[in-house]
Amino acid sequence: MSEVNQPQMDLVVAIDGQSGSGKSTLARRLAQSLGWAYLDSGAWYRALTWMALQQGLNLKDEQEILQMLSQTKITSQSDGTVLVDGSVLTEELRTPLIDVSVSDVADHPMVRKALTLQMQMLLAQKTVLGIVADGRDAGSIIFPQAALKVFVKVPLETRAKRRQAQNEMAGLSSNYAQILGSLSQRDERDAGRGTSAPRALPGAKVLENHSVTVEQAIGCLLNWVKAL
Ligand code: DC
Repeated sequence: MSEVNQPQMDLVVAIDGQSGSGKSTLARRLAQSLGWAYLDSGAWYRALTWMALQQGLNLKDEQEILQMLSQTKITSQSDGTVLVDGSVLTEELRTPLIDVSVSDVADHPMVRKALTLQMQMLLAQKTVLGIVADGRDAGSIIFPQAALKVFVKVPLETRAKRRQAQNEMAGLSSNYAQILGSLSQRDERDAGRGTSAPRALPGAKVLENHSVTVEQAIGCLLNWVKAL
């Protein structure tokens, strides 16, 4: 591909990886560099969870969540910010309560299907040059036609150390063993999610995001996009 900013609606880069692998940072930065839209699919699941909690729904009841979703418009801006019925949701999606609750919502297959359809509609927007999507099933289910699929790989211990440093920077209390345990639990839960489990897809490029800087990782991703 000679010119990465050509309007071409089927241009999708899908970035998958485990929790804490840095995939969101890379996807957001890559989208900015390309002038494309960023789809933070995890934020959509978080937004749905936030709404369900606001409405006092039982997160384990798939029908209740589906019913709410059918009456709600979730979309996102090109910087990845999620809007629910036109209202922007940001910090409220990153609380510990949402962290521990979101898997209950993301476990429901019919909810996943309905939300995935709404995410796919982003590609139909005339203003979008291309999309960088991140999330557990960005390249397997949401955008299987993605021109480039990337799996970001980082050892569990490194992810835990990074999360601990992030928490400390944010002034949050932070215990390495707890973080390690919770990331490992999330890995196991995600791994059990069949076709939506995080994995390097056939043909995907694997980005070892372990001992490289963000700039180096972005440079690598840009080279892969330019080579399309
Ligand atoms: O990436 P994150 O931590 O913001 O994701 C929040 C939750 O949503 C996490 O439990 C994984 C889930 N998720 C998912 O099941 N499928 C996606 N495409 C994105 C996130």
